Amino acid sequence: MTDSVKKRIINEFRFDSICYSAVNNKKERKVILSDVSGNTRSGEVFAILGPSGAGKTSLLSCISLNSKGNLQQISGKCTLNGNQISQKMFQKHFYLVPQEDSHRAFLTCRETLRYAADFYIDGNDEEKSAEVDALLVKLGLDTCQHTKVGNQFLQGLSGGQKKRLSIALALLKVFFYQSFNYSYLLITLLKILETVCVITR
Ligand SMILES: Nc1ncnc2c1ncn2[C@@H]1O[C@H](COP(=O)(O)OP(=O)(O)O)[C@@H](O)[C@H]1O
Ligand SMILES: [Mg+2]
Repeated sequence: MTDSVKKRIINEFRFDSICYSAVNNKKERKVILSDVSGNTRSGEVFAILGPSGAGKTSLLSCISLNSKGNLQQISGKCTLNGNQISQKMFQKHFYLVPQEDSHRAFLTCRETLRYAADFYIDGNDEEKSAEVDALLVKLGLDTCQHTKVGNQFLQGLSGGQKKRLSIALALLKVFFYQSFNYSYLLITLLKILETVCVITR
């Protein structure tokens, strides 16, 4: 491990007193989140658990500044290291893996990652390929790297493989945008993901 990785920077993400309501298709205002708070720091994995309809997706959309409810009312605060998060900060420091994977059906798993590497990694062809190789292995996608993603008409990756491809894209972005600040967290995260991959394979 390099010295920069050892010098661990603790980042803290907080969301405080999130309240969220929206008008449903019966034109009634519905309170979806009422005073929800939480925080997570570098090196931790934070999970939001709850039954269907509990408000998990709504909470994620609020804390990712992406809620789109009809006539929505939203209050509360999201901060990174005490600084209120703006759209610009969110785009730079976060990556949301969506519930529905949306990839290009006609690209292979490797091509998908390679395009992202061209976009996010500042290096030569060899370095980019090496990173793509490492990610493919870490996420258990090496065996299907030349399989097209596919869609309802074209047989391709399985659901689990598509999800892991989404996670690989997220790791590519966060890791390379954030350089060493986040790498300690990512090492932990990768370990967890590796375990999940082994279990779900
Ligand atoms: N934009 C919206 N307008 C009205 N009601 C909504 C809206 N979004 C979600 N809801 C309602 O809020 C509740 C929580 O939904 P959701 O966040 O999708 O739950 P979960 O992801 O935990 O299954 C549900 O009862 C859902 O119908
Ligand atoms: Mg949901």
